[in-house]
Amino acid sequence: MAKQGDLDAFKGNASTEEVIDATKKVRVGIIGTGWIAEAHVQEYKKMPDVEIVCAADLIPGKAEAFMEKMGVQGVRFYPSDQALIDAEKDNIDAVSICTYNRQHAPCAIYALEHGVNVMLEKPMCVTLEEAIDICRAEKKSGKVLSIGFQPRLDPNMQMIKKIIESGELGQIYYIQTGGGRRKGIPTPFGTTFIEDKTAGLGALGDIGCYSLDMVLNGIGYPKPLTVTGYCSDFFGKNPKTFTAKGYPAEYADLFSVDDFAAAFVRLEGGIILDFRIAWDMHLDTPGDTIFMGTKGSLRVPSTECWNGSIGGPMKIYHDVAGEGVCTEIPMLKSPEEGLFYHKLRSFVNAVKNGGAAPVPSSQIIYNQAILDGILKSNAIGHEIEIEIPEI
Ligand SMILES: NC(=O)c1ccc[n+]([C@@H]2O[C@H](COP(=O)([O-])OP(=O)(O)OC[C@H]3O[C@@H](n4cnc5c(N)ncnc54)[C@H](O)[C@@H]3O)[C@@H](O)[C@H]2O)c1
Repeated sequence: MAKQGDLDAFKGNASTEEVIDATKKVRVGIIGTGWIAEAHVQEYKKMPDVEIVCAADLIPGKAEAFMEKMGVQGVRFYPSDQALIDAEKDNIDAVSICTYNRQHAPCAIYALEHGVNVMLEKPMCVTLEEAIDICRAEKKSGKVLSIGFQPRLDPNMQMIKKIIESGELGQIYYIQTGGGRRKGIPTPFGTTFIEDKTAGLGALGDIGCYSLDMVLNGIGYPKPLTVTGYCSDFFGKNPKTFTAKGYPAEYADLFSVDDFAAAFVRLEGGIILDFRIAWDMHLDTPGDTIFMGTKGSLRVPSTECWNGSIGGPMKIYHDVAGEGVCTEIPMLKSPEEGLFYHKLRSFVNAVKNGGAAPVPSSQIIYNQAILDGILKSNAIGHEIEIEIPEI
């Protein structure tokens, strides 16, 4: 169980005072200037040692209008990721890849092959094959590749790992995780999240990868061995889902990804992972995350609109003097600067100081293997074995 000293240590982490050497600049390019690129630029702007020097978007004029709106001057613009890398590879240290999922792998591989460090938004990509190619390009380049999973920087998420590593739960044998949104198919900025040609993955890639990261990171990212997956699209294919929110009925015709997915995954070490994720459903939540162990179990409350954050104090159920008791873990304060700032700051530090990637591809490839395995198992209607070659 968490000791008070541990809790104090986490509280200490909440205020992160860091001395930044602003004389050594990290020059960054932004690839894809849509919704999430705003968060990247907003946080980079707070860093005295980061210069945003170039940006690219496939849509003519979008990157220019974006940088004007974000108040960033002196930026050079390009019509694609490749044009940006070709022209700027010797002028930049890193790129933030903020494109839709289908463009994650080609953009990351091109940047790495040209010697540029990469901050890649989540999910890592769409397929396991793409993830393998990204890892190979990363290894060959020797550059830093970090994947954009900021929720794991939440001290409460880190507490999950700490509780499990402490041995308080004994041997973990079963995990239930996932999350859901009652009416949460994301279309406020168009259809890039719901079309297969851009997103490739629906609820799975948007929010399912967060649930997987939470539990896999907690138990040290064991290798997934087999997956039985199921996907459906009952809500996405219903025009009323969109017209009820003021969006065109045609969005239902364009909808070509999962709005719900469930899976039964066997992990190395004999752990069973039971997973479900929903973008839309007639339910408040499809359940909390639970870790069942031989000495105790941990309940991690979900939120009604699942986005990878913990919904309330976690509870450990265990025996004390032969009696079953429940210990509540106090909620810990997040760092003042926000998780997104720290996701980018830790990446910039790794680029600057030659450190390891804060969210390494060697872990996230297992996350991707499960997402990919769910789609593949759903397509063939039975369990599949996950095979990942040596990178
Ligand atoms: N970490 C988070 O909290 C978080 C939150 C939201 C979205 N995301 C992720 O960010 C990614 C982007 O999401 P979004 O909502 O910003 O999407 P978006 O559709 O609003 O923006 C993507 C932009 O990328 C551009 N683009 C695509 N391919 C390109 C290429 N090869 N070169 C240059 N530009 C290209 C598109 O034209 C578009 O403008 C998704 O993968 C999503 O999962 C992460």
